[in-house]
Amino acid sequence: MGLFPHCVLLLLVSTFTVGLDVQSGSKPIGQSVFVKRFNIEKKAAKIVKRSLPAWLSASPNHQIRRRSTEQGDSCKALEGHDTKLAQNTHRYTFNDLSGSVSLAWVGDGTGVILALTTFQVPFFMIRLGQSKLYRSENYGKSFQDVTDLIRNTFIRSEYGIAIGPENSGKVILTGEVSGGNGSRIFVSDDFGKTFTNRVLPFIPLMQISYSPDDSNVLMVLSNNNELWLSEDFGSNWRKLHSMVCLVKWGGKNTIYFTASLNGSCIDRGMLELRKTTDYGKTIKSVASKIYSFGLGGRFLFASVMTGKGTLRMIHVSVDQGETWNMAQLPPVGHEQFYSILAANDDMVFMHVDEPGDTGFGTIYVSDDRGTVYSKSLDRHLYTATGGDTDFTNVTSLRGVFITSVLAEDNSVQSVVSFDRGGEWIPLRKPANSKCDATAKDPNKCSLYIHAAYSTAMNLNVPMVPLTEPNAVGLILAHGSVGYSISVMRPDVYVSDDGGYTWIKALNGPHHYAILDSGGLLVAVEHSPNQPVNTIKFSTDEGQCWGVYNFTDDPIYFTGLASEPGARSMNVSIWGYRDSILSQYWVSITIDFRDLLTRDCDDNDYVQWLAHSDDISDPNDGCMLGYKEEFQRLRKDSVCWNGRNYQVNTKTNSCLCTLDDFLCDFGYYRQENSSECVEQPDLQGKVLEFCLHGREEQLQTSGYRKIPGDKCTGGETPKRTEIDLSKRCVSDLVGPELLVDRHSSKSVPIVATVMIIIVLSIAVGVVFVKKYVCGGRFLVHRYSVLQQHIEENGADGMDDPLEANHTENGKIEFHDDSDEDLLE
Ligand SMILES: *[C@@H]1O[C@H](CO)[C@@H](O)[C@H](O)[C@H]1NC(C)=O
Ligand SMILES: *[C@@H]1O[C@H](CO)[C@@H](O)[C@H](O)[C@H]1NC(C)=O
Ligand SMILES: *[C@@H]1O[C@H](CO)[C@@H](O)[C@H](O)[C@H]1NC(C)=O
Ligand SMILES: *[C@@H]1O[C@H](CO)[C@@H](O)[C@H](O)[C@H]1NC(C)=O
Ligand SMILES: *[C@@H]1O[C@H](CO)[C@@H](O)[C@H](O)[C@H]1NC(C)=O
Ligand SMILES: *[C@@H]1O[C@H](CO)[C@@H](O)[C@H](O)[C@H]1NC(C)=O
Repeated sequence: MGLFPHCVLLLLVSTFTVGLDVQSGSKPIGQSVFVKRFNIEKKAAKIVKRSLPAWLSASPNHQIRRRSTEQGDSCKALEGHDTKLAQNTHRYTFNDLSGSVSLAWVGDGTGVILALTTFQVPFFMIRLGQSKLYRSENYGKSFQDVTDLIRNTFIRSEYGIAIGPENSGKVILTGEVSGGNGSRIFVSDDFGKTFTNRVLPFIPLMQISYSPDDSNVLMVLSNNNELWLSEDFGSNWRKLHSMVCLVKWGGKNTIYFTASLNGSCIDRGMLELRKTTDYGKTIKSVASKIYSFGLGGRFLFASVMTGKGTLRMIHVSVDQGETWNMAQLPPVGHEQFYSILAANDDMVFMHVDEPGDTGFGTIYVSDDRGTVYSKSLDRHLYTATGGDTDFTNVTSLRGVFITSVLAEDNSVQSVVSFDRGGEWIPLRKPANSKCDATAKDPNKCSLYIHAAYSTAMNLNVPMVPLTEPNAVGLILAHGSVGYSISVMRPDVYVSDDGGYTWIKALNGPHHYAILDSGGLLVAVEHSPNQPVNTIKFSTDEGQCWGVYNFTDDPIYFTGLASEPGARSMNVSIWGYRDSILSQYWVSITIDFRDLLTRDCDDNDYVQWLAHSDDISDPNDGCMLGYKEEFQRLRKDSVCWNGRNYQVNTKTNSCLCTLDDFLCDFGYYRQENSSECVEQPDLQGKVLEFCLHGREEQLQTSGYRKIPGDKCTGGETPKRTEIDLSKRCVSDLVGPELLVDRHSSKSVPIVATVMIIIVLSIAVGVVFVKKYVCGGRFLVHRYSVLQQHIEENGADGMDDPLEANHTENGKIEFHDDSDEDLLE
């Protein structure tokens, strides 16, 4: 409880937006950066009282009981842990006064950690800095100062440490240059034991990136936008291209990049998308008039300017840019953006920003070709300024996603989808918590999850939700229980069934980690101003927590570090101590192996059917055409899964229903009906979008399996295929076809889309929707569009998006190459 017990968070929408690149927001896997906090920044969040939104009073219709909690006394089972843990606690003190430390795990199961500390003083335009490098070979239990390996060169902390893919043992550290036109890197191919120093004939602008297929091949952009490549792990460098704005590795050694012909990356929308499959020996242009591009799953996306206008549209290719289709997504203007939220080989979640500075947009889900889209979620929170979205793929259970919406009253609300974006509902109130003071009715409220948005707003949320694919069903997250995200101190909640049910696990904000594939959870209280000395741990998925004092001399805690992949039993607590004259880093590593006295055997596991909510229903547990039964550790078993633990799952396919199909191009679903009917407005009309324009692609019966759906038998829509190709006149999708004719059409498209959005808000429906179909919404748009064209000729409406928007000069392409955005 704090100062404003009745308050909830109101989104602060900034008025300053220019299409910005949105990063995936993730640091390279296996790396953490800790910074000492001398004073805590507090950004004032605007706070307002508000009333319960209507949709929330409808309680979610899932009737689910919690996963059976085998009643045992797991709390008692942990008795006497203190001495066992005390014997396995290792402390290391760094004789180092630096302000920040970056950690990186080198390899999987090697126990090698590199810790780079940096100390920087801004001094006029130059930065004076000093770096120190430490190396551990025993999961952080002890470190060796190996600063002499980098010859006291200042290593740029913002580029971190570039670790090679897989278990290549490769490491690159990028040194700072003072003057001159070259730069220095240190490379290692023996897990950081030795480093060789190499001189670069350029100054890197971003972190050097490894080819995912061959760790000897490196690529980087220089500060004057030249693309450089090395095929021998950094010894020799070759310049591939100049004026490159954005570059990414594709699969099979392919490099995609956008290049400016005009000598400036500011002039977006005029870029060429190029690719090379032979490390630059031949370079091919695959599209022009490009604003930006992105990769997701097997899809290559590009936002392409339409004709003379300022609008751009997404085009998609599934053959590495050889042929393109126009995606059935609304076009966007200068200050809007597209973002790939998540993608795999089956499909993509695409966010399309709303016109105007709203802080939200719409999520669409694609079909397996990436061209036909269904609307999934309206008013999806995604601030353009910070580039922050709460969208989270819950990797511990197939089909589950959590994100936030901006309600009509500007409050932030969390929603969950259990069927990969088909339907979004509020999260259930945890059984063991009461609605906070923000709820009018103490029994009607939901759980709200804090994710990247709250972190960006500097709320007291030290970590975003945590899930691991090998810790089946488990989610750890900060949340509050009320009817909106509260700005108050959040608590830690745990779900053991992929988000259907939750319990409050810990009071107040914590840093947390999953160890031993979910068999062990650890947490340390987040208290930036108070030194801490306790770590909490749980062997029953967060129901019961043991407490261990890891030191007598509390430390200012900065973060937890454990090997990525959640298989370890070693966790390090990083922090610093204040002495009279200085502050120095300490790392305390606890090996929990002795706590779990035995290995798990068959009796320690129970069967668990995922997505089960009604055992009497033969389709119980079906998700995208199949059910999965997992062997999960019993809550009361205190044993060790082990490093080599494999998730044990049995799958059964389900019978198909019409809901396993989406409506193909030119078809839609009427409200409350599963059947796809031909869009009548299209009969006899000309379609603007075609698939390739190739006839065989346009044969459709109106139904198409939802991507990734594995149902068999049951209801299969039978209908003769009709040929839509006759109705197609134009198609993209050679860049040369992006002629002006398109722009005159695009303007009414936007106008229409906006009208439809406004209408749906007014009617107040649209929040929750089943896979509506291959764009009922979009098909509707076409018909209206055609009328506009017919009635108004080429005379478009005023475009409110065009309002003299200037670029802010911010160049975004220096971001990490793994950004998921497409702007
Ligand atoms: C940049 O490098 C070139 C060749 O390596 C050298 O001739 C030139 O003097 C350098 N310029 C500066 C400013 O160091
Ligand atoms: C270069 O920019 C100018 C003005 O910004 C434009 O008129 C011209 O078409 C551009 N050239 C190319 C090749 O993009
Ligand atoms: C979500 O994460 C899971 C597990 O890592 C992955 O298999 C799946 O493809 C992801 N889904 C999307 C849409 O990215
Ligand atoms: C552990 O530390 C806390 C203070 O952080 C103290 O209150 C508690 O008594 C300690 N427990 C033991 C067993 O020393
Ligand atoms: C914990 O660290 C030790 C080395 O100190 C290592 O031998 C052991 O394998 C680690 N445990 C796990 C589960 O990674
Ligand atoms: C669809 O179903 C809902 C709820 O069952 C109902 O309120 C609505 O009127 C139905 N719509 C149509 C067009 O039948």
